[in-house]
Amino acid sequence: MTGLFITFEGGDGSGKTTQAELLSQWLVHAGHTVVRSREPGGTELGLELREIVLHRRGHIAPRAEALIYAADRAHNIATKVRPAVERGDIVIQDRYLDSSVAYQGAGRVLDPIEVRDISLWAAEGFMPDLTILLDLDESIGRERLDEARSKYDRLEAEESEFHSRVRGAFLRLADEDPQRFLVLPATDSIERIAEAIRSRVGSLLD
Ligand code: TMP
Repeated sequence: MTGLFITFEGGDGSGKTTQAELLSQWLVHAGHTVVRSREPGGTELGLELREIVLHRRGHIAPRAEALIYAADRAHNIATKVRPAVERGDIVIQDRYLDSSVAYQGAGRVLDPIEVRDISLWAAEGFMPDLTILLDLDESIGRERLDEARSKYDRLEAEESEFHSRVRGAFLRLADEDPQRFLVLPATDSIERIAEAIRSRVGSLLD
């Protein structure tokens, strides 16, 4: 029996982690084995890479940045996600290759298709069964982050035009692959969003 690989995507402050937690609890309650992961930083090596890519001071060349995310992804998929799915577990992960296409492709320096191809190579083509996109206007995401904390990582510190391009890129990815994506407005109540997610995941489990 193979399990499921479910990813959450969306801008910073869209509520991905809250929803991933609620979905995990619901699935565990129903008797499933759930593995939680995130990118960057789902593994021990990944935590070191996360520190570098998000918090290292000074410039990182765009191609180097894209490759650090891809290295984190390669290790996370090979050592954690794929083995779990092959055991029959349900993997719920914050962010995956759509984040690379949206963020690294949004700076106008790298070609989004090349970014995607590097990730596909890194992950040996391993794709999610379902990707939940929590869509949020970037100015609301920024307000939520301002309320939550005062220190931003490298990407959170980018200006609002960048985050608006990221949002547009996520929506385009969802448009191109409606089978894989469930797009939900992140401004809905936590309970309403959780219910819509449970309904879709439930249909995958039938
Ligand atoms: P997080 O705080 O949601 O874990 O995400 C960390 C940041 O990393 C977030 O601003 C988006 C960014 N990111 C990329 O730029 N490319 C990627 O491939 C991934 C996975 C995250």
